[in-house]
Amino acid sequence: MTVLVISNQKGGVGKTTTAISLGAAFVAQGQRVLVVDLDPQANATSGLGVSKELPNAIYGVLLNERPLGDSIVPTAMEGLDLVPSGPDMAGAEVQLVPIMAREYRLRQALRDTHGYDTVLVDCPPSLGLLTVNALAAGDAVLIPVQCEYYALEGLAQLLSTIEAVRERLNDHLVLLAIVLTMEDRRNRLSLQVIDEVQRHFPDLVARSRIPRTVRLAEAPSHGLPISIYDPKSPATQAYNDLARELSQRLKARAPLAVRGAIA
Ligand SMILES: Nc1ncnc2c1ncn2[C@@H]1O[C@H](COP(=O)(O)OP(=O)(O)O)[C@@H](O)[C@H]1O
Ligand SMILES: [Mg+2]
Repeated sequence: MTVLVISNQKGGVGKTTTAISLGAAFVAQGQRVLVVDLDPQANATSGLGVSKELPNAIYGVLLNERPLGDSIVPTAMEGLDLVPSGPDMAGAEVQLVPIMAREYRLRQALRDTHGYDTVLVDCPPSLGLLTVNALAAGDAVLIPVQCEYYALEGLAQLLSTIEAVRERLNDHLVLLAIVLTMEDRRNRLSLQVIDEVQRHFPDLVARSRIPRTVRLAEAPSHGLPISIYDPKSPATQAYNDLARELSQRLKARAPLAVRGAIA
């Protein structure tokens, strides 16, 4: 089971869209996938057609040590399951502070979770304890970056948080890729941003980029992943390509992680 954390403390860069769409793309490739919604805004939850008001949300798993299995709900797509978030998560960041081993609550909860090939963790737009829980539980991190001005803003801080978690909490964590989202090929600025991010992080930027398309913005209001809402959308193709590319990257990185564990 690979735990892939989708993180960027900037809001609106495509984290949730990527969690849902990439999850569906992995399922299309034959995997069983669990999306864990760690964001109090619960956009992945509603975007997958699940109520934000379920009693057994991720909050009870993190704060009351309820088994994560009790919180798993199915979605409209067979093979794609969800651990929902909800409004009580808004207080979780603060309530976690005095708790013993507070950084490892998600990791512990996932230890008893079986039957999934990939777990995708959708992080909130902050670098607080919820995101640290995700990074401490993760095998790899995927960073969505929007093709807009200021794309690189905040990335240094995110990278140093990832490095700190690797040093202190989870030496197994690898930075898998940056995925460029909301690409607009007719827009010069979009092209400039792609160029700039690729120059800064030549090895890290995924070849597959996600185009800007209104279909991706519409899909959540139908509670469906893009691959079901609009199978022919270029975004469906882009997320399928990304899923394949990330699988290859994960395979290539595996020996590294093993070496790290031995050293
Ligand atoms: N490739 C895209 N094309 C068009 N709209 C997008 C795309 N990706 C995301 N969006 C829209 O942009 C907004 C922010 O995306 P979201 O995935 O919620 O970001 P985050 O989780 O990082 O805050 C949402 O309204 C979403 O529907
Ligand atoms: Mg989000």
